[in-house]
Amino acid sequence: MIVLFKGDGIGPEIVDGAVTVLKRVEQKFGHRFRFEPALIGGASIDDCGKPLTEDTVAVCKQADAVLLGAVGGPKWDSIPVEDRPERGLLGIRSALGLFANLRPAYLYQELAAACPLREERVNGGIDLMMVRELTGGIYFGKRGTVTKENGKKSAFDRMEYSEEEIERIGVIAFRQAMTRRKKLVSVDKANVLDTSRLWRSVMHRLSERFPEVEYRDQLVDSAAMQLVSDPGQFDVIVTENMFGDILSDEASMAAGSIGMLPSASLGDGTRGLYEPIHGSAPDIAGRDAANPLATILSAAMMLRISFGMEEEARAVEAAVQSALTSGYRTKDIAAQGETVTGCRKMAEIVANAI
Ligand code: NAD
Ligand code: IPM
Ligand code: MN
Repeated sequence: MIVLFKGDGIGPEIVDGAVTVLKRVEQKFGHRFRFEPALIGGASIDDCGKPLTEDTVAVCKQADAVLLGAVGGPKWDSIPVEDRPERGLLGIRSALGLFANLRPAYLYQELAAACPLREERVNGGIDLMMVRELTGGIYFGKRGTVTKENGKKSAFDRMEYSEEEIERIGVIAFRQAMTRRKKLVSVDKANVLDTSRLWRSVMHRLSERFPEVEYRDQLVDSAAMQLVSDPGQFDVIVTENMFGDILSDEASMAAGSIGMLPSASLGDGTRGLYEPIHGSAPDIAGRDAANPLATILSAAMMLRISFGMEEEARAVEAAVQSALTSGYRTKDIAAQGETVTGCRKMAEIVANAI
């Protein structure tokens, strides 16, 4: 059973696109998926006042996988942070124990013109895997706002990592590297932060367990710089929650658009949550203008990782490739003068190419 969280903004449009593709997979490969629609984020707030309910968490715990569009938008921006749509997303990641977030950034050669980097910077290709820690760090630490004696406020967000949390994400990253080009960069801020020094020491220890992996550390500021100056050098990057959030949006532009980057959030078992890395894009919502490919590629990751359907996953990825090769472009990936295809049509093109 697949829980479908359409969410907010462009969420319903892109999830519908992914479902169109999954229905074609059913037909083509003789499967039957059971889809279970559920509410999260702003849609859930509008329904019952909370961004995520216990009943919804319980349904997700019964599921084989969760497919999510995006949450949030201006309508809910003035709500206190504790009750905002984004809390629903953090809540479900945490409730399902999804500590490992895999965010592949791949530049399709057809999209070189959509990539803002000059051609010579990307012509060696870009194919990197960001491994982001997802249930720890500053996102989940103690936080608060206090009023001082002078009447002014002070706020804090605490960043904490335990060795166990670092080790389990590190193991995932080293294993990813072993299945790829065997290169791993761990990104931290060890020249300033204690959490980063602990992070680095655990990664060094792990690197002895994976001698085949060419390992190095890099400070986050310089990694951010190199992601635009020479993105092709990276194979696997492992980093903590907030650095990974920021760096993966940056890496997405090396792939041409944030509308191209899928993700898988995983825990100890095979159940996963699959979602594009982008948000609800309120500026283009409801206009059939969103790029559904990040969500479609997330569905492909779901087929591969949660369902062990490698052939089906490859068929979806090949269909995405074929849509791009045939020249179909949503607005975000269209170069000047190229014809623009809508969200729904793009999903249909991909589905028909399977
Ligand atoms: P965003 O990722 O929603 O949008 C950033 C820019 O990228 C916008 O110009 C948008 O139009 C464009 N964009 C994003 N996805 C696209 C797609 N599929 N096709 C074409 N263009 C696309 O980031 P934001 O504007 O900073 O955030 C909007 C809301 O989304 C906020 O409430 C934020 O909290 C939320 N958000 C949710 C998630 C999530 O659900 N996983 C992720 C990020 C942001
Ligand atoms: C993402 C988003 C989320 C995050 C927000 C919406 C909580 O930006 O999935 O990248 O910061 O993890
Ligand atoms: Mn983000």
